[in-house]
Amino acid sequence: MRPSLLRTASQHLRRRRDYSSSAAQPERKVAILGAAGGIGQPLALLMKLNPLVSSLSLYDIAGTPGVAADVSHINTPALVKGFMGDDQLAEALQGADVVIIPAGVPRKPGMTRDDLFKINAGIVKGLCTAIAKHCPNALVNMISNPVNSTVPIAAEVFKKAGTFDEKKLFGVTTLDVVRAKTFYAGKANVPVTGVNVPVVGGHAGITILPLFSQATPASNALSHEDLKALTKRTQDGGTEVVEAKAGKGSATLSMAYAGAVFGDACLKGLNGVPDIVECSFVQSTVTELPFFASKVRLGKNGVEEVIGLGELSAFEKEGLESLKGELMSSIEKGIKFAQES
Ligand code: NAD
Ligand code: LMR
Repeated sequence: MRPSLLRTASQHLRRRRDYSSSAAQPERKVAILGAAGGIGQPLALLMKLNPLVSSLSLYDIAGTPGVAADVSHINTPALVKGFMGDDQLAEALQGADVVIIPAGVPRKPGMTRDDLFKINAGIVKGLCTAIAKHCPNALVNMISNPVNSTVPIAAEVFKKAGTFDEKKLFGVTTLDVVRAKTFYAGKANVPVTGVNVPVVGGHAGITILPLFSQATPASNALSHEDLKALTKRTQDGGTEVVEAKAGKGSATLSMAYAGAVFGDACLKGLNGVPDIVECSFVQSTVTELPFFASKVRLGKNGVEEVIGLGELSAFEKEGLESLKGELMSSIEKGIKFAQES
């Protein structure tokens, strides 16, 4: 065969291969609400780099045209569109498979996550009302704080609208896992890439309960005091960043990474990739609390299985009992707000 014909044949084959691989992968739309913010912008960047995303919808009350124009120049397949203000929210959400919500105010030094409730509860309620209307089947990844209350608010809004599906609502607690992995690897002196640590409970202070007794690879090098210190550092990780930023907000870059990891896991689950397990704050019967973070298996419809806690150390059992009061009152606060407002 002439070299030019050989070249044509191999180009044809490559095109066919490209076509068949893209035909096998479903089109997926991801919407980010709060996309012009400290988390929203780097999260938009990371989702634009995700090959599972075919359409990326960037919504905020201000600033999205610029963010969308910027991110859209990156030569990856996801088609990027920016949407700004209430009038454009419906179009931003239409057809979304996954909606990621980092909209709302962040903490300043001296504040608790619950101090954000006053402003963020209303923002989340409004956005979830629109989700119920325009993309009721989407998986919702809630980042806005206080997660222990904003997830119950979202659930109530969806229940009122008649669209609630407990398999599709997630509080994003991945940053707690990311921190626990990093801190454990540093202390146990093991390569961080192979580390796994489940983190259960909720996403605020003592409600964040890392299960270092289940960390892999296991380490004999850590004393009880080390484990207590690792637990405290994981629980206070958000505050560590808030104080270091000294009034300029809370974790944005590590959160965008964590949000992208969790968003990717949701997309893989939707696409039928087996054995996708991440920790998340979901409707749960693992404890007596109606919402609880634990390992969750993700599948084609969202949550496929909420995985139990496994064996806990005496220290972790104690931590579990002492977080329940605070977590329950944050959950109840969210439910009450959504029912009464
Ligand atoms: P930010 O102020 O930098 O950005 C928030 C964005 O939300 C802004 O661009 C703002 O315009 C937008 N926004 C406000 N109201 C909106 C509405 N009604 N619709 C759409 N967008 C709206 O804040 P940030 O640092 O990105 O943090 C956002 C939220 O994420 C905070 O509540 C913060 O506490 C939370 N957070 C959660 C985690 C977690 O682990 N789950 C980690 C870090 C931060
Ligand atoms: C975090 O854990 O970094 C976030 O919840 C932000 C915060 O206020 O700490």
